[in-house]
Amino acid sequence: MLRNLWVLSALAASAAAQAGGSFPSLLALVNETDGFSYLNTYLQSFPEVRDSVTALTNITVFAPSNKALLEFAETPRYSQLTEGGADFLQALLSYHILDGIYDNITEYGPLNTLLTSPRYTNLTAGQVIFAYYNPSGFEIAIWSGNDSQSGTIGLPYEFEGGILYPINSVFNIPGTVSEEVSGPLNGSSFAQALDQAGLTDEVNALKDATFFVPKNDGWESVSQSLSALSPEALVDVLKYHIVPDFLGYYSVLEEANGTTLKTLSGQELTVYLNEAEEMFINGAGVTYVDVPAANGVIVFIDNVLNPTGTVQPPTSDAEDGVPAFPTGVASSGSGGESTSSTTTASVATYTGAASALQTGTMSLLALVGAVMMAIVL
Ligand SMILES: *[C@@H]1O[C@H](CO)[C@@H](O)[C@H](O)[C@H]1NC(C)=O
Ligand SMILES: *[C@@H]1O[C@H](CO)[C@@H](O)[C@H](O)[C@H]1NC(C)=O
Ligand SMILES: *[C@@H]1O[C@H](CO)[C@@H](O)[C@H](O)[C@H]1NC(C)=O
Ligand SMILES: *[C@@H]1O[C@H](CO)[C@@H](O)[C@H](O)[C@H]1NC(C)=O
Ligand SMILES: *[C@@H]1O[C@H](CO)[C@@H](O)[C@H](O)[C@H]1NC(C)=O
Ligand SMILES: *[C@@H]1O[C@H](CO)[C@@H](O)[C@H](O)[C@H]1NC(C)=O
Ligand SMILES: *[C@@H]1O[C@H](CO)[C@@H](O)[C@H](O)[C@H]1NC(C)=O
Repeated sequence: MLRNLWVLSALAASAAAQAGGSFPSLLALVNETDGFSYLNTYLQSFPEVRDSVTALTNITVFAPSNKALLEFAETPRYSQLTEGGADFLQALLSYHILDGIYDNITEYGPLNTLLTSPRYTNLTAGQVIFAYYNPSGFEIAIWSGNDSQSGTIGLPYEFEGGILYPINSVFNIPGTVSEEVSGPLNGSSFAQALDQAGLTDEVNALKDATFFVPKNDGWESVSQSLSALSPEALVDVLKYHIVPDFLGYYSVLEEANGTTLKTLSGQELTVYLNEAEEMFINGAGVTYVDVPAANGVIVFIDNVLNPTGTVQPPTSDAEDGVPAFPTGVASSGSGGESTSSTTTASVATYTGAASALQTGTMSLLALVGAVMMAIVL
C-alpha cells in the first residue's frame, strides 16, 4: 500500500513537471539541481564520458550526491579514479545506470547495470547491484561490491530519457572473488588456498560463475584434513566450490531445492532447503548470499565441501551445516607430528550438530538483511 502511494506521488510529481513543459535533459537536471554540483563537475571535466552518458535513453540513473562523492574521495577506492581517469569514471558511471526506466523496484533481487567492460567485469549481462524498496523508509536500499550499502534520497527525478534517483553513497564496483572475500566477510582462507594452488588466474577468467566460499572458521575446523591432501586433491576440493556458467543469486537458489549444480571439478553439488527453510549446499549451511564479484556471485557457507564425501539431505530441522572432512586444526610451526585430534566426518548423518567454531546458518530471510523481510512477507 505504501509502495502504491509512493509510486503515485512519483507519478504526480512527474505529471506536474510535464504540465510545466518537457523534462530537462540529464545534463541540465544534474546542472540545475541542488546537491549534484560535484557530479556535474566530474561530467564536465570528462567530455567523452559526459557525451556517452547523455546519449543514452530509457535509463535509470543512480546519481551520487555531493556528500556521497565527498565521502568517496576519502576512501581507498578514490585512487582508482585518480589513476584510471576517464576510463574508470566511465565504468563507475555505467555501474550506476540501468537499462530501462525502473520506477517499479519492489522485489529484492539483482539488477543488471550497463557496466560490461571486461576490464571491470566478466558478467556477460552486466555487473549487478542488489536493490529492494523499503516501504517504511520510502527509500530503495542498494548493495554493491565489498558488501557496501547505499540508499536513495527522496523521490526520483524525471529527465528526458529516464529517471534519476539521488543516492547517499557511491556504488562499489565488485572486485575479484579473492578481493571480495578477504575483508570483513571472513573468507580469506579460501582466497589464500586458491592462491597457493595457483588457481587465482583461472578462477578470475571465468564468466558468470558462482563461488561457494567457506567462512574462515569452517575452513580452520578441517585444516588438518586439508593439509593432508595431495596438491591435486586440494585443487579438486577448491574447484568443487565453483560453479561456472551459473549465477546462484538468492532468488535463484531459493527456487532450486533438490537441484544439482555441475562444478569446475566436474562433480555435482546439491542445493537443499529443509522444512525449517534453511538453505544448504550438500551438507554445508548457507550463511550469507548475494555478494557480487567481478565475474559472478559469492555465497558464503559454514563448512568446506568434499568432492569425495557422501551427500545426504540435511534433517528437516537442521540449522547448521556439518563438516564433510574429519575435523581438526592443523598444527603450524615446529613441523613435528601433529598433536591435534581428529574426528571422523559426519557426512552420512547430517545431524545438524554444529561445532563450536561454526557461525550457524541464519534463517533464509535473515540471509539478505532483516529489513528485506518487509518485502518478502
Ligand atoms: C549549467 O548551468 C549554468 C548556469 O548555472 C549555465 O551557464 C550552463 O550553461 C549550464 N550547463 C549545462 C550543460 O546545462
Ligand atoms: C523507450 O521505452 C519506450 C516505452 O517503454 C519505447 O516505446 C521506446 O521504443 C524506447 N526507446 C528506446 C530508444 O529504446
Ligand atoms: C520494471 O521496469 C523495468 C524497466 O522498464 C522492466 O524491465 C521490468 O520488467 C519492470 N518490472 C516489473 C515487475 O514490472
Ligand atoms: C571493504 O569494506 C571494509 C569495511 O567493511 C573496509 O575496511 C575496506 O577498506 C573496504 N575495501 C575496499 C577495497 O573498499
Ligand atoms: C568475522 O570474524 C570476526 C572475528 O572472528 C567476527 O567478529 C565477525 O563477526 C565475523 N564477520 C562475519 C561477517 O562473519
Ligand atoms: C575477465 O576475464 C579475462 C580473461 O578472459 C581476464 O583477463 C580479466 O582479468 C577478467 N576481468 C576481471 C575484471 O576480472
Ligand atoms: C525440499 O525438498 C525436500 C525433499 O523433497 C523436502 O523434504 C523439503 O521440504 C523441501 N523444502 C522446501 C522448503 O520445500
